[in-house]
Amino acid sequence: RYTPAPEDKFSFGLWTVGWEGVDVFGPASRAPIDPVESVHRLAELGAAAVTFHDDDLLPDEGTREKTLERFEQALSDTGVVCEMVTTNLFSHPVFKEGGLTANNRQVRRYATAKVLRNIDLAAHLGAKTFVMWGGREGAEHGASKHIPAALDRMKDSLDLVCEYVIEQGYDMRFALEPKPNEPRGDILLPTIGHALALIGELEHPEMVGLNPEVGHEEMAGLNFAHGIAQAMWHDKLFHVDLNGQHGPRFDQDLRFGAGNLRGAFWTVDTLLGGGAGPAYDGYVHFDFKPPRAEAADGVWESARGCMRNYLILRERVQAFRSDPEVQAACEASGVLELLTPTREAGEPLSALREADYDVEGLAERSVAMEALDQLAMDHLLAAR
Ligand code: GCO
Ligand code: MN
Ligand code: MN
Ligand code: MN
Repeated sequence: RYTPAPEDKFSFGLWTVGWEGVDVFGPASRAPIDPVESVHRLAELGAAAVTFHDDDLLPDEGTREKTLERFEQALSDTGVVCEMVTTNLFSHPVFKEGGLTANNRQVRRYATAKVLRNIDLAAHLGAKTFVMWGGREGAEHGASKHIPAALDRMKDSLDLVCEYVIEQGYDMRFALEPKPNEPRGDILLPTIGHALALIGELEHPEMVGLNPEVGHEEMAGLNFAHGIAQAMWHDKLFHVDLNGQHGPRFDQDLRFGAGNLRGAFWTVDTLLGGGAGPAYDGYVHFDFKPPRAEAADGVWESARGCMRNYLILRERVQAFRSDPEVQAACEASGVLELLTPTREAGEPLSALREADYDVEGLAERSVAMEALDQLAMDHLLAAR
């Protein structure tokens, strides 16, 4: 029970289990893990895929070829695939003031070159999703960044990488990852909504979607399930970063299911189609950090917990959605009536405008939503 299988499409970043615990107040609390070991351990735990930033796997030129060879061997030995690749445009001090939107043009050109080289690597490994998280694209001051120009440069960069992928004939799409702040005081494209709006201005909008992260929306006080529901409505949920967060504070990157548990329940429900719509069918990617206090045992325990919590919540969501009492409660709440358009097809607007409305009666109607929500709570807590 709750045993992950490759069909569940669970995926982990090498930087998640590989996080050594370096934070703003202290150095590493754990030793580095060989990426080859991570692939094997994750395979044993039931993951189907791994992802990485260029620098997680290939931190230096001298060892690049040898490491890549060992990594590809580990993939073929375990059957784990590399489904997504992303670029580190945030660690090296050269990116201290931004990568693709740094004020300094040479920095922007170098950042672009680093991305292009990494796209070749992603294509070589068969990854079909390329994530762009602009952690350093932002500012701490009002006058230090001309935001319209930064958005122009962000658009240019995305147009350029799309052009490159088309030119090379790669089968690859880009996924923007919003975050409101940290490491910059304010980051460009802070939420799902901001990123969706930018995509509409691109030369190849069909090639660019989103990789929303639970904690990042919750840091901004937003409802993650609603955010990904809108991304799905726009056909833009290309990838997802699941983790846990306790409301607006620093980016906690807890294991999935920790933090806002009710939010996690509705997140899984939304990924499964919310009872009506089409389901998300991409990889279920965990982007979390095993807490700094944990030793090696705790690293793998937290990775296991991410998948286990997803499977428990999936079971709870399915029980909720298939419960006849829940269906009746949805009916009683008028949830399905929202599927009916407000205006009758072909109806003259005058008919809508001039009709008699029982305003007082409508104001007094029952919505029975507390009853519906309590059923969800009962299912989440396995009290039914
Ligand atoms: C964060 C971010 C990063 C990005 C990752 C992909 O927690 O601030 O999630 O971890 O997801 O770097 O580029
Ligand atoms: Mn995060
Ligand atoms: Mn992330
Ligand atoms: Mn992260």
